[in-house]
Amino acid sequence: MLSFFRAAATIAVVLGLSSGGHAIGKVTRSGRYLYNADGSRFYIKGIAYQEQGKSSSANVGKESGRATIQLGAATVDPNAPFSEPSTFIDPLANATACARDIPLLQQLGVNSIRVYSVNASLNHDSCMQGLSSAGIYTILDLTLPVNGSIDRSSPAWTTNLLDSYINTIDAFSKYDNVLAYNVGNEVVVSPNGTTAATFVKAAARDTKAYLTSKSSSALVGYAAIDGDDTWIVPLANYLSCDPSGGNSGGTAIDIFGLNNYEFCGDSTFQASYAGKTGDFAGYNVVAYFSEYGCNQPSPRVWAEVPVLFGSDAVPVWSGGVAFSYFPAESGQGEFGMVTLSSDGSTVTPNTDFDNLKTMYNQVSFINDPGQSSAPSASYPACPQQNTSFLASTALPPTPSDSACQCLESNLSCQFNPQTSNTSAIVGSLLDTACSLLGTVGGSCDPIAGNGQTGQYGTVSSCDPSTKLSFAMSEYFEANKRDPQACSFSGNGTVNAKASSSSNATVVASSCLASATGTHVPTAPSSATNPGSSSSGSSSSSSTPGAATTILVSDTRALLGVFLMFAVSVAGGLLSLA
Ligand SMILES: *[C@@H]1O[C@H](CO)[C@@H](O)[C@H](O)[C@H]1NC(C)=O
Ligand SMILES: *[C@@H]1O[C@H](CO)[C@@H](O)[C@H](O)[C@H]1NC(C)=O
Ligand SMILES: *[C@@H]1O[C@H](CO)[C@@H](O)[C@H](O)[C@H]1NC(C)=O
Ligand SMILES: *[C@@H]1O[C@H](CO)[C@@H](O)[C@H](O)[C@H]1NC(C)=O
Ligand SMILES: *[C@@H]1O[C@H](CO)[C@@H](O)[C@H](O)[C@H]1NC(C)=O
Ligand SMILES: *[C@@H]1O[C@H](CO)[C@@H](O)[C@H](O)[C@H]1NC(C)=O
Ligand SMILES: *[C@@H]1O[C@H](CO)[C@@H](O)[C@H](O)[C@H]1NC(C)=O
Ligand SMILES: *[C@@H]1O[C@H](CO)[C@@H](O)[C@H](O)[C@H]1NC(C)=O
Ligand SMILES: *[C@@H]1O[C@H](CO)[C@@H](O)[C@H](O)[C@H]1NC(C)=O
Repeated sequence: MLSFFRAAATIAVVLGLSSGGHAIGKVTRSGRYLYNADGSRFYIKGIAYQEQGKSSSANVGKESGRATIQLGAATVDPNAPFSEPSTFIDPLANATACARDIPLLQQLGVNSIRVYSVNASLNHDSCMQGLSSAGIYTILDLTLPVNGSIDRSSPAWTTNLLDSYINTIDAFSKYDNVLAYNVGNEVVVSPNGTTAATFVKAAARDTKAYLTSKSSSALVGYAAIDGDDTWIVPLANYLSCDPSGGNSGGTAIDIFGLNNYEFCGDSTFQASYAGKTGDFAGYNVVAYFSEYGCNQPSPRVWAEVPVLFGSDAVPVWSGGVAFSYFPAESGQGEFGMVTLSSDGSTVTPNTDFDNLKTMYNQVSFINDPGQSSAPSASYPACPQQNTSFLASTALPPTPSDSACQCLESNLSCQFNPQTSNTSAIVGSLLDTACSLLGTVGGSCDPIAGNGQTGQYGTVSSCDPSTKLSFAMSEYFEANKRDPQACSFSGNGTVNAKASSSSNATVVASSCLASATGTHVPTAPSSATNPGSSSSGSSSSSSTPGAATTILVSDTRALLGVFLMFAVSVAGGLLSLA
């Protein structure tokens, strides 16, 4: 605690702020609106705050899938042309950089920043305290690059993801200025992809239960890519609905973010936001623009700011996050509002910054409705499945570390990688194991989940390494436990402790018997290395080149990275489709 307060005091001095104990107020949700402690409406006047990484040549060109993403006619898709990151820079872990930037954020007049990935094992005291003292809230995505997000191509809600989300929440729950945690960003990008919404909703359910168990009032959110009304609107409604029909918010997000770039230049409400505003007219939870800021023409004049905070928009929207503080260049051009000196010691605002500053500083919030007259929370029934919205209301279970560890430790053939970078090989090994299993009459159905039928295999909520051990064990057993059938080119090890009388299917149903429903998740035990196999090697893969990557819209930007994994898993799971 001592160092915590010292860091806070230092920042206050650096920033020349009064440290007179003016704590940032608590923001709460009443129905579809956000409120300050005094009952006045709270609006997100925000900016995205995360450095974009450099392109990794290995990943360039894996993005063809994005071309199919349909946006409104006047919309740009700033994310699509970004290449695939594999590492990230935590923007809340560098006290020097935060001290450099917070005065600029204050000049800009923002009350919120959105951050796309943080590293739970680093110290965030200085940045978070500095932001809090400056009256700035954070909207924090819980997702990480490569293997820390729900993979839209092969979606699952698994122990390693839940544990990673919890680790991040635990690292940030001591701060008073976390407004919301996003459980995903642009996971669902097409009507077909809406099956992934079941996993996003399960993530929201379990994240919410965990926050409640910690007495946290932070909101649970999701940030969506913009798209056609026929699936975006049901998606939003689905994420905030009650599948049981009992008006309960247990599986509902609190805040829906739309990454919306519809308003370009000096457009008008009617010509830009009117359609989406109408779509969300009856929405039951908070809605805002989790990214906005069309950059054509450039420089941006930010004529959308008074419109977004004006009387046409505020009955529906609670503000937005301008994209982006740090340089972020795509095929659509530059979205950044500052440039960094080569040594990172100084930042220089550009015209976009100055214009946004002017606009943000002119905003006066419309306080309507006040909290006392806000409609109370309601959680309608979920949208019907149809050809443009495929997600079932049957959600996957809460992932259980203990059940998956029981399974892993009792399986006859265990994934025992020779590398700590398991995410690089798990996909191809799953592909191999599942197709080999197919040749001996087995199937990978138990490790797969289907968001359209709402059927989830016994092992579907375990981490990828445990799923792989399961598939390897089934193949090994089908080959009468011939040690050669557990080799997988040196990636598998026969488990001498495994029972010779029970097989993988039996062990799975025994270990996971009590893990089919929901429960309040608990923090992973420190002995656990989420996402790794049971091999005991717990060293996390080093993240080379601090100067690489950060993603803009993480999950989406990760598509290419995931593709290898996803495609190979899907390849092995065809039988489920
Ligand atoms: C989406 O579904 C349509 C129709 O069912 C199909 O033609 C198309 O290939 C699918 N797209 C993807 C990406 O799976
Ligand atoms: C599916 O249902 C949604 C409402 O939940 C509707 O907006 C959409 O148009 C429907 N899609 C089709 C193809 O009918
Ligand atoms: C923190 O940020 C400063 C300014 O950009 C940079 O010079 C320094 O290398 C960063 N420190 C770390 C540990 O990344
Ligand atoms: C991602 O993979 C690395 C090993 O490559 C592992 O240490 C880490 O725990 C994994 N993270 C998640 C969330 O699965
Ligand atoms: C892990 O492997 C992948 C694929 O080979 C690579 O892109 C990534 O940089 C590796 N990560 C680390 C931390 O070595
Ligand atoms: C493990 O599997 C990977 C991916 O198939 C392969 O490249 C590697 O050679 C295998 N063996 C070892 C010891 O890593
Ligand atoms: C596993 O064992 C059970 C019980 O002995 C048996 O019914 C089942 O067929 C076995 N499964 C496989 C895949 O061998
Ligand atoms: C699995 O192993 C654990 C010890 O690691 C043991 O307590 C448990 O009974 C085993 N479960 C099954 C189904 O074999
Ligand atoms: C978090 O930071 C630690 C310490 O620098 C590093 O070892 C680890 O790889 C980082 N984790 C991620 C997911 O980047």
